[in-house]
Amino acid sequence: MMLSEQTCTMEQQELVNGLLAEQKYINPKFFYDKRGSELFEEITKLKEYYPTITERNLLTQYSSEIASFITSSAVIVEPGAGSCEKVQLILDAIRPKAYLPQDVSRRFLEAAVVNLKQKFPWLSIEPIVSDFSKPLQIPEDHRDDQLFVFYPGSTIGNFEPNDAVKFLKNMRQLVNEKGGVLIGVDLQKDVSVLEAAYNDSKDVTAQFNLNILNNVNRHLNSNFDIKTFTHKALYNTELNRIEMHLISTVAQSYNILGHEISFNQGETIHTENSYKYSLACIDKLAEETGFKRVKTWTDAKNYFSLNFFQSV
Ligand code: SAH
Ligand code: AVI
Repeated sequence: MMLSEQTCTMEQQELVNGLLAEQKYINPKFFYDKRGSELFEEITKLKEYYPTITERNLLTQYSSEIASFITSSAVIVEPGAGSCEKVQLILDAIRPKAYLPQDVSRRFLEAAVVNLKQKFPWLSIEPIVSDFSKPLQIPEDHRDDQLFVFYPGSTIGNFEPNDAVKFLKNMRQLVNEKGGVLIGVDLQKDVSVLEAAYNDSKDVTAQFNLNILNNVNRHLNSNFDIKTFTHKALYNTELNRIEMHLISTVAQSYNILGHEISFNQGETIHTENSYKYSLACIDKLAEETGFKRVKTWTDAKNYFSLNFFQSV
């Protein structure tokens, strides 16, 4: 349903459309207000959340080998850079000409860049605040540089498969025929390991999931009552994805920008998918988007993969 463009921002429109859908949904980019970014950082330190520590170990162990795939004086672009923590593990090995971290979470990114500048005074850092589902705008002065994309964290898994293809095609245009993408992708594994990672014992993931409603309230000037929702995460074995939902524990109704948004007791808002890939699916993704997977580094348990996609 269209809302008047004069009274409604694009983000409000997007949110209301999702809340009026038969299966209510919220785009996961709305997780990342300042508090949400902080909660995500807490998630990365949880014992159950294996992706971060596993990927960090791979970046540390193989930094020299990784650097050998990246042209010297390259410019590194990192979509969804967040805390800019992981790039620090490979910066000394790569010594890029510049680093362009991009994120939708403005205040969090700004703080991360201040920290990074202190640790790497030799590095030129130019943050970009934007939505990576839209084509990335590279600053004018880097249009002639050789770009490489660093996309860790399995953030690719939060896209629907067709949107993952669209995103990587955009990246392929950015890096042209000489560049490549270093991409972290979470692998399919035991359901118990996956479900534990998204249902941690400290309930940090639950807080992260519920906090999305605070951000939605700010965007829509609404009053979703967080106490009346609970967190749920489960693995969908048919679609190879973790699904996160918020369950309404009561029947309730809200009037938002002139729309009635009603919940039955037990009805959910779908807040995130986190797709888990096989190496065969990663190959297909590369092939469909103008790349070839030329190298993969994995851990001993085969939980997580770090891949170098070379343009073809
Ligand atoms: N790259 C980091 C952070 C991953 S968390 C790591 O590997 O640990 C996902 C990051 O993507 C967050 O920082 C979030 O703010 C950002 N993000 C999510 N959706 C986005 C979007 N649509 N556009 C830009 N950034 C987005
Ligand atoms: C950012 N992204 C890859 C995380 C994931 O695992 O899908 C977000 C997250 N959601 C819950 N925990 C972490």
